[in-house]
Amino acid sequence: MPLEEAMRTQRVIRRVKSDPVDDALILHLLELAMKAPTGSNAQNWEFIVVKDRAVVAKLARLNRRALAVGAGIYKRIATRRSGGQNEQMLRIEKAVRWQAEHFEEIPVVVVACLKGVVPGWPPIAASSSYGSIYPAVQNLLLAARAAGLGAALITLPLWSTMLARRALGLPWNVTPCAVIPMGWPKGKYGPTTRRPVGELVSLDRYGNRAFLQEPR
Ligand SMILES: Cc1cc2nc3c(=O)[nH]c(=O)nc-3n(C[C@H](O)[C@H](O)[C@H](O)COP(=O)(O)O)c2cc1C
Repeated sequence: MPLEEAMRTQRVIRRVKSDPVDDALILHLLELAMKAPTGSNAQNWEFIVVKDRAVVAKLARLNRRALAVGAGIYKRIATRRSGGQNEQMLRIEKAVRWQAEHFEEIPVVVVACLKGVVPGWPPIAASSSYGSIYPAVQNLLLAARAAGLGAALITLPLWSTMLARRALGLPWNVTPCAVIPMGWPKGKYGPTTRRPVGELVSLDRYGNRAFLQEPR
């Protein structure tokens, strides 16, 4: 698949079948994920491939707990960000709920971790830390798309780092950053809905929307 097509149609796929996914495919996708950059090429990442039903169930419980606590907040943030587009919000909510209710059936869940504790200060240190894992996560999502595998980037199961560490048997100095449930999709991929480039790009100075196109 051409890279541009993968990028244009890679989107969150929450509804996946319970059919197994070959280990060889997952490892191939992770090899592509790890072509991503890290600060100083430290490659200070760890990926946990979770297939054990008992561990998937623990992540499912963490996901549902965070959803129950944060559903209202999540909805408010998402509604604001989507510009109050209710129909879209309802669709997302339904899919999030579906995933929460069927989490135990997801065949593979990848947890992307950083070796080390992410510093809170100065902000650039936190930014550099997460910046050393999210390029790999995006590579993984794109590689999954190209392979026709459904994947989602979620963080709800990690709202308690302590409980997530315990569920995964992570030492204190390995930080879980992102959870990527994967499986063969029930529905179709993309295209994604994104705001026009010109609305979010400035020229030379913040707010100079020089690339905004006049409505035709
Ligand atoms: C940092 C981050 C955290 C996310 N956490 C969750 C999550 O916990 N649960 C969830 O269902 N989706 C989560 N998402 C997925 C977004 O909701 C999704 O990518 C967004 O709505 C765009 O959807 P699309 O890719 O289908 O266009 C997360 C995305 C990002 C980038």
